[in-house]
Amino acid sequence: MAEFVMEKSPPLRGETRVQRAKNAVLPMMACAVLTDEELEIAEAPRLTDVEDMATLLRGLGVRVERAGNGLRLCGADLKNGAAEDDAAERMRASVLLLGPLLARLGRARLRFPGGCAIGSRPIDLHIKGLRAMGARFSVREGCVEGAAEGLRGASVYLDFPSVGATENLLLAAALARGTTVIEGAAKEPEVADLVRLLRRMGAKIAGLGQSRLTVEGVPALHGARCTPMPDRIEAGTLLLCAAATGGDVLLRGAQAATLGAVIAKLQESGAQVHSDRAGLRVRGGPLRGVDVETLVYPGFPTDLQAPMMALLCRAEGTSILTEHIFENRFLQVPQLRRMGASIAVRGRTAVIRGVEALHGARVAATDLRAGAALVLAGLTAEGRTVIGDIAHIERGYVDLAGALRSLGAPIERRA
Ligand code: UD1
Repeated sequence: MAEFVMEKSPPLRGETRVQRAKNAVLPMMACAVLTDEELEIAEAPRLTDVEDMATLLRGLGVRVERAGNGLRLCGADLKNGAAEDDAAERMRASVLLLGPLLARLGRARLRFPGGCAIGSRPIDLHIKGLRAMGARFSVREGCVEGAAEGLRGASVYLDFPSVGATENLLLAAALARGTTVIEGAAKEPEVADLVRLLRRMGAKIAGLGQSRLTVEGVPALHGARCTPMPDRIEAGTLLLCAAATGGDVLLRGAQAATLGAVIAKLQESGAQVHSDRAGLRVRGGPLRGVDVETLVYPGFPTDLQAPMMALLCRAEGTSILTEHIFENRFLQVPQLRRMGASIAVRGRTAVIRGVEALHGARVAATDLRAGAALVLAGLTAEGRTVIGDIAHIERGYVDLAGALRSLGAPIERRA
């Protein structure tokens, strides 16, 4: 099993370019189910989640091929509505195939979606919305099965602004008969990126970036080309790593507009962050503890909660970190404690007391972002840190070790 082996890093210095967003690319790939024509996604990151989505789509009869750095997909020969490969269980985003399959074929069968073990992660909101549009569901042999004789537009209220449910319903509504109104929709920028692609394919969607989205279904969608947004979570992770080492780093392509809460918290903690046309530049110094609550966009992203916690482990004073989005997203805590962190957890709240030093240890990446947190901790810890189970990290970061190495960090990937 591959692992990262690292030593304490000098302050990170230099510049690196941010990849395109995994969480934008995955729903874009699901769009291939909606049309006979070719879809081109430029600069699609080479991640295991992207490969897993490609495997699932191929199983459905969608042609998926690499074209340089991009992906070309074509759903002209879509033949079945069953995505039963193991890949579906590895990745939460597999559920995004439900809506488009029901819209295009009137049937869908999908292994219960997996992904990071960070909470119960039900799919009730996806099902509720698709049911309102006329689909019926059953659960058999670990699979969700859906059927519909032509989806019809409906009014759906999401009790929580779920990113995945909003995307699934947009994908389904684009081809449904009549008008769908999604109230309480997620406002994450990856949702807006999906809306932009669907519009290019001919979908009629109003309310970009709003919590009320209106979709007027059309009989068919056509091919399109898109370049997904830069990955705000990768950018945020690198910002936090640079600040934690007291470094000076330019992140090319990072968009300040999508990282407002993270930049604000870093500044409150004592780091300097400036944005210009090239991207974002961060300069670290002595850091103070800050309180952070994860919230839906534009609040502090839950995906950066674990790396933020790792940074706060060595900040001066006490920090209170509250996780509002997922109920079990503190899996990094026992691992950080092995490195000498002082963290007390009560339910959804963690109290972090800054310590003088962390110490290298053998730890394991329990999920994607917890893994990123351990990398950040390893950069600042005395001695050697060995991180196992990095397959989790590679689901969402193209070459985190390579990016950090180019900024001066002594980190290696060992197969
Ligand atoms: C997406 C992101 C993930 C991010 C999350 C929140 C992708 C591929 N993944 O995940 O990186 O951490 O948004 O920003 O884009 N929920 C329900 N019922 C549902 C659906 C969700 O109760 O039917 C709950 C979840 O259990 C969770 C919360 O809503 O507690 C947020 O989930 P959601 O916004 O759906 O996250 P994902 O789309 O899975």
